[in-house]
Amino acid sequence: KKLYIGIDLGGTSVKVGLCDEQGSLLAVYEGPTEAEKRAEGVMQNIELYVRELVTREGCAWEQIAGVGAGIPGFLDISAGLVKASPNLGWKDVPVKEILEARLGKEVRIDNDANAAALGEVWSGAAAGIANVVCYTLGTGVGGGIVVKNTLCQGFNGMGGEIGHLNVVPAAEAIICGCGQKGCLETVSSATGIIYMAKEAVIRGEQTSLAHIREISAKDVLDEAKAGDRVALRIVDRAADYLGKSMALLSVVVNPQRFVVGGGVAKAGSFLLERIEGYFREYSLENAKANVDIVPAILGNNAGVVGAAGLHIFG
Ligand code: BGC
Ligand code: NA
Ligand code: ZN
Repeated sequence: KKLYIGIDLGGTSVKVGLCDEQGSLLAVYEGPTEAEKRAEGVMQNIELYVRELVTREGCAWEQIAGVGAGIPGFLDISAGLVKASPNLGWKDVPVKEILEARLGKEVRIDNDANAAALGEVWSGAAAGIANVVCYTLGTGVGGGIVVKNTLCQGFNGMGGEIGHLNVVPAAEAIICGCGQKGCLETVSSATGIIYMAKEAVIRGEQTSLAHIREISAKDVLDEAKAGDRVALRIVDRAADYLGKSMALLSVVVNPQRFVVGGGVAKAGSFLLERIEGYFREYSLENAKANVDIVPAILGNNAGVVGAAGLHIFG
């Protein structure tokens, strides 16, 4: 039977997975991206991990029908080119060409969050739902928009770049990795949450966060859960803008379901309930009726499953 390889390229690690034609994940292998994230070194590591996975699983190389990769950043999808990736520090990297030369298989690429959305629709939290918007809350805020079972990549591959929705008022806006100001990502990603926490500590606000050496997004969420008022305000602000972005999207694509995944979403219902509260507050009745917000099921594996699926749905 045919098997597919999915690659989920992240800033710190690369996950590769082996999938069958039904979207079942048979095995995964994960390794570091590369200390300096240089494209050549990363591509070399990816080849290493893919070959290791296939060898470990004892499957014949000929069984691999295709390779898909989800990559954070702005892509020219049909050309297989990464035009810019602020989080990797890449510009104009022909990923498809490089990986095809290394692996000798057809390679398809898409945005990491688009791939994750495809995974959740294929065999996760949005299975059987035709209109879905997926969020990945991690280093950045990723988005994947599925309308009538079709991923919206857009004219320039920028469809679904939800993290760069301009939602923060100019007076409070800070600069984003994309170069613009006021993006959702600056307040609702792990990076944004950590930034706000550090700022509060520097300002000398009274908070348990002041006693933490290297503040992580999880620390902020944990302290908020424990009742720290400053942490709570930061989490609430992240949730507020996420809810607002959903209200905006609900009158643009009117999804039936929002799926929220990524590391930050591990905070669970504590975060999700807040996001939903704001979504209900900001969106109008006909756009929110019978719409739900659910956690991702595939979690950190959505990206590899969806990337493998690029060959089936592409
Ligand atoms: C990038 C997206 C990516 C997201 C999650 C954002 O900063 O612009 O392309 O999907 O981070 O990695
Ligand atoms: Na996307
Ligand atoms: Zn931005």
